[in-house]
Amino acid sequence: MSGIYIHVPFCKSKCTYCDFASFPKEIGKMESYFACLYREIEGRGRQLKDKVFNTVYIGGGTPSVVDSKYIAGAIRQVKKFFTLTPDAEITIEINPGTVDENKIKEYKSVGINRFSIGLQTGYDDQLKRLNRVHTAKDFLLCTNMLKGENISADILIGLADQTLDQVKKSIDLAIAGGVKHISVYALTPEVGTPIYTDYLNGELLSDDEVADIYDGIVSYLKEKGFNRYEVSNFALDGYRSKHNLNYWKRGEYIGLGVSASSFIDGRRFINTFKIDEYLNAIIYNKSPEISSDVIEEKDARFEFIMLGLRTADGINVEEFNANFNADFFDEYKSVLNKKAKYLDINGNIVKIKEEYLYVQNSIILDFIEE
Ligand SMILES: C[S@@+](CC[C@H](N)C(=O)[O-])C[C@H]1O[C@@H](n2cnc3c(N)ncnc32)[C@H](O)[C@@H]1O
Ligand code: SF4
Repeated sequence: MSGIYIHVPFCKSKCTYCDFASFPKEIGKMESYFACLYREIEGRGRQLKDKVFNTVYIGGGTPSVVDSKYIAGAIRQVKKFFTLTPDAEITIEINPGTVDENKIKEYKSVGINRFSIGLQTGYDDQLKRLNRVHTAKDFLLCTNMLKGENISADILIGLADQTLDQVKKSIDLAIAGGVKHISVYALTPEVGTPIYTDYLNGELLSDDEVADIYDGIVSYLKEKGFNRYEVSNFALDGYRSKHNLNYWKRGEYIGLGVSASSFIDGRRFINTFKIDEYLNAIIYNKSPEISSDVIEEKDARFEFIMLGLRTADGINVEEFNANFNADFFDEYKSVLNKKAKYLDINGNIVKIKEEYLYVQNSIILDFIEE
């Protein structure tokens, strides 16, 4: 499995919590941005012509804010210069305040077959406080335009004064919209975002309150048929995100556009976060990368363990041993004993027990020491 990620760094306005590379004031650079993105797609596609990709993910920012002709152009360019499997999963992130029937028609016409909608919460007062550009009703208008499609919704937990009941109602709204997949993210107060002030002033929920909401929604989602397959991700049977699964399985991916990161042939690299720097690099035939690291075996092993333990499927020990010419059970004997209470070991599969998945970080860190 290998994936292609395409970044669209524009939004209508900036949400109070968001630290992603998205620049509402730079939207006038859309035309030159896509001209450069198409060149980067061509260049990378030629370099990677021997690899086969089975997912494409257009993320942001808000890909749905730009004229859909640019998105269609990007997909056509990908299909021209990369090899995609015939059943490739092609996802676009959309924001309910920025789509219409014509855009959706054009997305579908180029083969986009998965739609990830930023809902965040089903409460208009909370959406307003987050500076979102849509209402709960807009979400349903959007899902109505996508009837029968493979839709996912993002929901945030940890907002000021948010209750478990409100999150359940937001989930109900997503389900009423026909979603097949739900991502539930614990709000991270990033330094430099407006919400960081609320965090400093103690207005956001505490970690314990967030953990209680999380536990409540895991069982709620299960009742509704949405099974957790990764800490933040829940899906009806058959609707796991292939693109995300590839990240957690340490599969290769190529990132295109501003801030996009890649993992190809054992090297991790990342493009510049600045639009002008990106445009200049592409126009003058230079690399837009700002960092590049060859992953040493010690780090590769830890990545394999960390990413695997975040998922409900856990680590496949046979795969680990084959990849690293290792004997997992022998080499990690002491941490496996120390953390036995949290782990479920069944033959060649090592998982974190369901009830401890949310606190996986503290469990995983011990594997670094080994
Ligand atoms: C890059 S955004 C793209 C979605 C689209 N732009 C939208 O917001 O409608 C992907 C998701 O990341 C999540 N996210 C963004 N900032 C976050 C933060 N500080 N903490 C937790 N989740 C965050 C949001 O749930 C968001 O839907
Ligand atoms: S719309 Fe999405 S990417 Fe844009 S600022 Fe809001 S959360 Fe960030």
